Amino acid sequence: MIKHLKMTNVGPAPEMDLVFGERLNLLTGDNGLGKSFLLDIAWWAMTRKWPAEVNPKLTSGKVALPTDKKQKAEIDFSFSAASTTMEYTSTFQPKLQSWQVRKGRPANPGMVFYALADGSFAVWDPARNYWKKNNEEGAGRPPAYVFGPKDVWDGLRREEDGTWLCNGLIRDWAGWQKEKGRAFELLTAVLGVLSPSADEKLAPGELTRISLDDARDMPTLKMPYGQQVAVVHASSGMRRIISLAYFLVWCWEEHLKAKELLGEDAETKSVFLVDEVESHLHPKWQRTVIPALMKVMDQLMTSPDVQLIAATHSPLIMASVEPLFDEDKDAWFDLDLVDNQVALTKRPFVRQGDVRAWLTSDAFDLRSGYSVEAEEVLERAAKALSDENFNQADAQRLDKQLRAVLSDTDPFWMRWRFVAEKKGWIS
Ligand SMILES: Nc1ncnc2c1ncn2[C@@H]1O[C@H](COP(=O)(O)OP(=O)(O)O)[C@@H](O)[C@H]1O
Ligand SMILES: [Mg+2]
Repeated sequence: MIKHLKMTNVGPAPEMDLVFGERLNLLTGDNGLGKSFLLDIAWWAMTRKWPAEVNPKLTSGKVALPTDKKQKAEIDFSFSAASTTMEYTSTFQPKLQSWQVRKGRPANPGMVFYALADGSFAVWDPARNYWKKNNEEGAGRPPAYVFGPKDVWDGLRREEDGTWLCNGLIRDWAGWQKEKGRAFELLTAVLGVLSPSADEKLAPGELTRISLDDARDMPTLKMPYGQQVAVVHASSGMRRIISLAYFLVWCWEEHLKAKELLGEDAETKSVFLVDEVESHLHPKWQRTVIPALMKVMDQLMTSPDVQLIAATHSPLIMASVEPLFDEDKDAWFDLDLVDNQVALTKRPFVRQGDVRAWLTSDAFDLRSGYSVEAEEVLERAAKALSDENFNQADAQRLDKQLRAVLSDTDPFWMRWRFVAEKKGWIS
């Protein structure tokens, strides 16, 4: 697992320094402050390739470039494996436009999965992408498998010779379903764990055809309203989750086959990088997705050791981990703009109790959970309550504005009516 990451003169802040928790890590912060950037760096540190370097069709996951080209740029990182920690230092070489690491290949971090924000996926599998000796380097193995959003569905081909590296969700799911073997069982189990709730299980339906011109048997999902819907017609939220489920099962099946060939035991360690997994998900699903991701590897590995690093904009996700957050194993990092500079802070995880409180916490920095208009009117009304010179006409105007933005049961009415009646503003 990745333990420590430090970046100097690269990314949105002059320096960023993080010591990860061994289990769950959450990253919050406004748009553009570097959450995805941190995930890219963590992926690179563990695999030594940028996602877009492996699959040039990707629109994100590009090589990190120094901020000040004239100054030294450095990425330091460390892994812990068993009881040891291995430390690495990397500097940017302007002539090569790449990062050179002083020590050789990285220590094996286990399987590394990366679910990018745009529906791309990447995996680095120690059985298929790793070589321990330099003379194995010519074995022609890909440095990682990186899928663009379309590749996950339709398959991934090697650039050079068009060889299929992966058949994609549509063909594999249909094949697995006909085979009625382990892969389909795993897929069904993983879909079950990632479902929003027990009475809304994502369950495979019968195979179907969706077009006269598409010869592929198309997997379907059983919907709660009795229909079976082709996976390509499923909602964005469902497609995000089923593509993730497929990706995990595909990675694991291929890993098992590779390990069999190598005559080695299957991996038990994995690192999971997830960027805004909540996008397209209904609130009730946002509440269950992180705990589900923490459990999902149980379906695949025996006694898995999973490190999850998740960037999120969702107060529901923050609230959902309250029961399981453990300061010894988990960590929360928050990015903020302080005096026009990006600052990364490891925050103590204090339970907020509910979603609304998370909105106004350091994680999201909102002043309230109201609409912008209501917030503004409420602030004026709160000031008016203690303003000696506030007159009746102004108060009545404000009262009308409050009615337009607040709910009938808003707690502010109590205060407002009490003072307004006392001052004779309203009767
Ligand atoms: N490949 C890169 N090289 C250098 N800096 C980058 C790179 N990618 C992102 N950044 C920095 O991170 C900022 C965007 O951060 P990003 O991680 O996309 O934000 P978010 O927090 O919304 O995920 C950019 O404005 C830039 O400063
Ligand atoms: Mg982002």
